[in-house]
Amino acid sequence: MLKTTLSVLSSVTLALLSSTAIAADAAQLEQGKTLFAGSAQPIACAVCHTLKDADAAGTIGPDLDELKPDADRIRKTMMEGMGAMPSFSAMDEADREAIIAYVVDATN
Ligand code: HEC
Repeated sequence: MLKTTLSVLSSVTLALLSSTAIAADAAQLEQGKTLFAGSAQPIACAVCHTLKDADAAGTIGPDLDELKPDADRIRKTMMEGMGAMPSFSAMDEADREAIIAYVVDATN
């Protein structure tokens, strides 16, 4: 069910990305949300972090609604990893930037 929802979301995101009629920002935020909630490799952020907007309730890492990290802080943590958090440096830069834009938008 979740997988179906996510793959539908991914298709929607791809459709949005290829549509010039839709603002790039909205598509980027939607893509970031999809990645955060389920499709980010090696492990989705939602497994470990709480973020209400993404229905994420992970407790291994800090609650991002409370932390309200800025873009530089998220980018640095994703590139280098931190403690139990793996590095996301192998991710496409566009995907990484979409997650960063989404987390900043959802928490600030
Ligand atoms: C396997 C669990 C796990 C996953 C998956 C994970 N994190 Fe984390 N994250 C952590 C932990 C644990 C910390 C705190 C590390 C510490 O303080 O030593 C953390 C810290 C952070 C911080 C705070 C960094 C700081 O400066 O304090 C941010 C921002 C963050 N993660 C964002 C993300 C994003 C975005 C993703 C998805 C791309 C993600 N995390 C995926 C476990 C995870």
